[in-house]
Amino acid sequence: MSETAAPGEQAREMTVFEFVGGEPFFAELVERFYAGVMGDELLAPMYQEQDLEGAKGRLRGFLVQFWGGPDDYSQERGHPRLRMRHFPFAIGVAERDRWMHHMRSAVLAADTVDQVKDLMLGYFENSATAMQNQ
Ligand code: HEM
Repeated sequence: MSETAAPGEQAREMTVFEFVGGEPFFAELVERFYAGVMGDELLAPMYQEQDLEGAKGRLRGFLVQFWGGPDDYSQERGHPRLRMRHFPFAIGVAERDRWMHHMRSAVLAADTVDQVKDLMLGYFENSATAMQNQ
């Protein structure tokens, strides 16, 4: 994923964020993901229904930043420290697998190339395992 440099410009790698078309990609991904999560009897009770929009915004902001977009997430929330932020939730293998199931469906339904989907799925598999705390 590299761009050709215009004369006088330095070549630079395109970020995944740019490649997928920016913010809307992540907003849609997070919408699909949460639609699955809120219909999941194991996961739904972990979330505050009255702050669902807030939760969507935090996940979207984090992913935008992680994949090379603007760093609004850290401006608002500080260092992600995701493992620490998940300590209040009991996340065992079952929770991890349900979470990953919904994220996998959301990624596979995205409008982008398989290479990007594979990259994201690999990242989510690892980070979901890292979030397990039981
Ligand atoms: C493994 C299973 C996981 C479960 C059950 C889980 C559950 C939750 C819950 C209940 C929240 C609180 C919602 C809120 O923000 O109000 C949360 C927050 C969050 N989760 Fe997860 N999560 C999991 C994995 C992950 C992974 C793999 C990532 C990122 C790759 C992630 C990213 C986030 C972010 C960015 C927040 C908001 C943190 C903040 O407060 O700024 N989660 N998660």
